Amino acid sequence: MSNVTPPPLDVDRLIDDRRTRVIVCCGSGGVGKTTTAAAIGLRAAERGRHVVVLTVDPARRLAQSMGLSRLDNTPRVVPIPKRPRGDKDRAPEATPAGSLHAMMLDMKRTFDEIVEAHADPDRAAQILANPFYQSLSSGFSGTQEYMAMEKLGQLRRADEWDLIVVDTPPSRSALDFLDAPQRLGRFLDGRLIRLLVVPAKVGGRAYLKVLNAGFGMVTGVLTKVLGAQVLKDVQTFVSALDTMFGGFRERADYTYRLLRAPGTAFLVIAAPEPDALREASYFVERLAQEGMPLAGLVLNRVHRSPAARLSAARAVAAAETLQAAGGPDGGPHALTIAALRLHAERMQLAAAERRVAEHFTTAHPHVPVAEVPAQPDDVHDLAGLGAVGDSFYTG
Ligand SMILES: Nc1ncnc2c1ncn2[C@@H]1O[C@H](COP(=O)(O)OP(=O)(O)OP(=O)(O)O)[C@@H](O)[C@H]1O
Ligand SMILES: [Mg+2]
Repeated sequence: MSNVTPPPLDVDRLIDDRRTRVIVCCGSGGVGKTTTAAAIGLRAAERGRHVVVLTVDPARRLAQSMGLSRLDNTPRVVPIPKRPRGDKDRAPEATPAGSLHAMMLDMKRTFDEIVEAHADPDRAAQILANPFYQSLSSGFSGTQEYMAMEKLGQLRRADEWDLIVVDTPPSRSALDFLDAPQRLGRFLDGRLIRLLVVPAKVGGRAYLKVLNAGFGMVTGVLTKVLGAQVLKDVQTFVSALDTMFGGFRERADYTYRLLRAPGTAFLVIAAPEPDALREASYFVERLAQEGMPLAGLVLNRVHRSPAARLSAARAVAAAETLQAAGGPDGGPHALTIAALRLHAERMQLAAAERRVAEHFTTAHPHVPVAEVPAQPDDVHDLAGLGAVGDSFYTG
């Protein structure tokens, strides 16, 4: 076993530092970004900050527990539950209460709002009704990332909160969050979209090629209906959007700069599994290249045994001895045998998780790491978020 020990990531210190204004939770699909973002938001509010959490696609039960029953693009107050003060308590007695707001990103509504803000009412109506716009605003991948950044920019400008915690869309790759907005911005900023219209006028499949090359993905729906009508829609859309050319690219650039500003901290979330940590590794390298501030790695859903002093090998040996004494079904020792075997499995899982985590730490020895234990159940309410938050307690 190697002896690389990462520096500890002190999440409480990060959220207590008033200079921290934006925390972005990134990571590959399903690793716990939404859970971590919500848990950090709650904990920061409990520790006296005025927080808004921007979630993307939260599980329904979690959303409901935060009072988010529908997509409405508006931050809602989340009552901070009173909890008995325990030894992992979040804040010193004297800390004045903070507040928590949460919202779910409505990608299409956010897009519509940009159009409405930039075009006169007739133009806006024309764009909003355009079928190409409609599939762009709700169907393309990349749009969600762009709109999450756009919303972050809006929340920052509103200046009503002293901490914004941002969850990122469920993309396969963590890098999509950084790449997609600029890709969409480039697509919409005119040059490419103009290019795209030219071959369409000439006719033929060149249009499709450019669209594919430039945007990377066309939804199945659009591909199926692609034909004269869609080309016409694109052209109408482009001419209607004419007044806005440049705007999208600028907006993407603005938010990109915000991500590099002092006061922004990235947390990369990963499960202790090879794929998730490989993604985390790419992401960490990319942030360094971009000069974006990484606070650290949150290793989520970690398994640890409460009786770590009993090794897996010894537990298995003991189970075998008891089995030999008690017969094939274990006789009077059946329960003990089952417990010993379960313990051995748990210890092996913990060891495997430690090995993949060490792999990451060997490659990135200076990246601070915090661990969040696997909870017995899914995290779907404020009590569960509180428990996740408690794992950031450092004493
Ligand atoms: N520490 C944990 N212990 C137990 N369950 C967890 C933990 N963290 C997350 N979960 C559960 O794992 C599932 C995925 O978590 P979450 O939705 O936060 O991931 P995500 O990264 O946001 O996923 P997506 O990429 O789809 O947006 C949820 O059901 C959540 O309750
Ligand atoms: Mg999520």
